[in-house]
Amino acid sequence: MRRKMAAGNWKMNGLQDNLAELDALAQGYGDAECDILVCPPATLINQAASVSGDSIAIGGQDCHKAVTGAHTGDISAQMLKDAGATHVILGHSERREDHDESDTDVRLKARAAIEAGLKVVICMGESLEEREANNTLDIIGGQLAGSIPDQVTAENLIVAYEPIWAIGTGKVPTLDQIGEVHDFIRARLVRRYGDGVGLSTRILYGGSVKPDNAADIFGVSNVDGALVGGASLKAKDFGQIITALA
Ligand code: G3P
Repeated sequence: MRRKMAAGNWKMNGLQDNLAELDALAQGYGDAECDILVCPPATLINQAASVSGDSIAIGGQDCHKAVTGAHTGDISAQMLKDAGATHVILGHSERREDHDESDTDVRLKARAAIEAGLKVVICMGESLEEREANNTLDIIGGQLAGSIPDQVTAENLIVAYEPIWAIGTGKVPTLDQIGEVHDFIRARLVRRYGDGVGLSTRILYGGSVKPDNAADIFGVSNVDGALVGGASLKAKDFGQIITALA
């Protein structure tokens, strides 16, 4: 049985004041029957970890592939852990695009994160052009093969399918389209890692998940939860998504 997960990606949003939303989330939903993860900007991780206590896990949104060294402006996995993070999102399409991250970059970052003791949420997704050209499964297969390291377990790996064209747009794939990709990811995980890891690894859907569409999406096969952007910024909205999941 895979435990469901509601993960929030605050992206480049969040100042001290916004920790009140996290506090409200912990108070209102901390005992929900699913895992809750919030990934605020790095500047808030330390405080977020103390506000959320044990009920909500805190994650980073990226880390460097190196353990330490001359990388001005970057953050290592060990630093995230030291600040109180237990997870890190890697390979989000916004990082792949804004920072030219390749599958290899993502894989090396994931290795560094796992070695530092973090759990990784590895993102993958196709562009609208790729979907319209019927290349979705090829793209996902390539990203999965290239971005996920060999050394993973069902405890330290979470996969997030986020079609790029659904992120922040209000457009959501049909439930059949979501199911097709999630079933495909499941099959590829089983083929590569065997039944143990393949069947136990959680696969999250991300892209315009809102309180009003969450329950339908969570009913799709092999959807084990959501990676939520905009709707994770408000405790009320994210709480409704958690309720739909738990
Ligand atoms: O990582 C979450 C994300 O990319 C989805 O964002 O705002 O469409 O929920 P949003």
